[in-house]
Amino acid sequence: MFCKLSLITILAAYVSSAVSEDIEFQLFAYGKLASSGLQLFYGDGQAYVGGTPSFVTESVNISLVMTEGDDKFVAKANTTAASTLDWSPEPTMYIDMTEGVANPIGFAKDNETLPSNATTVGFGLYGGWAFHKPDDADIEMKFLATPTNETGIYL
Ligand SMILES: *[C@@H]1O[C@H](CO)[C@@H](O)[C@H](O)[C@H]1NC(C)=O
Ligand SMILES: *[C@@H]1O[C@H](CO)[C@@H](O)[C@H](O)[C@H]1NC(C)=O
Ligand SMILES: *[C@@H]1O[C@H](CO)[C@@H](O)[C@H](O)[C@H]1NC(C)=O
Ligand SMILES: *[C@@H]1O[C@H](CO)[C@@H](O)[C@H](O)[C@H]1NC(C)=O
Ligand SMILES: *[C@@H]1O[C@H](CO)[C@@H](O)[C@H](O)[C@H]1NC(C)=O
Repeated sequence: MFCKLSLITILAAYVSSAVSEDIEFQLFAYGKLASSGLQLFYGDGQAYVGGTPSFVTESVNISLVMTEGDDKFVAKANTTAASTLDWSPEPTMYIDMTEGVANPIGFAKDNETLPSNATTVGFGLYGGWAFHKPDDADIEMKFLATPTNETGIYL
């Protein structure tokens, strides 16, 4: 067995462009796992930092787009291989709010079913930090990075 000790991380947003009212940014995880920041990327519908796990078939560098007046983070493929991907509709970030789940952040296209108790709304940026705020709950700015079974790669 490997140790599944989750590390608290914060997600910093680096804005790469702001076209009209839309903001495009990349997310980096900071905390005990990485003082210099690990870029969050898409791997088979889940969010990883620290490297590409060998068990992932579709690994994509992404930026996220937040449309003015919307509280969703939509993933945009940031790779030259993007043209070979079927990313239409583009995947939206979701968070599983079930108490105690180990893999709460993922991505789903509009026509894909979300895990039960997962939501795509309530995301936002506060200064340089990403947050999630459900309607009926407190704002959450700390996320957990859970080690995968491959060294240095976190879910
Ligand atoms: C993502 O970007 C990093 C840094 O530019 C690069 O090393 C890596 O190969 C890229 N991964 C993919 C799947 O494009
Ligand atoms: C993503 O694309 C932007 C703009 O083209 C570029 O500046 C950035 O380095 C890219 N990042 C990765 C990790 O590919
Ligand atoms: C669903 O998420 C809410 C938080 O919004 C939580 O209070 C509740 O326990 C979750 N339901 C289940 C079945 O885990
Ligand atoms: C969603 O739509 C895409 C593009 O039209 C399609 O390739 C994919 O199979 C659909 N997924 C589901 C779960 O219906
Ligand atoms: C590591 O975890 C992934 C995802 O849970 C799984 O598909 C893979 O088989 C595991 N690899 C090993 C060597 O246990």
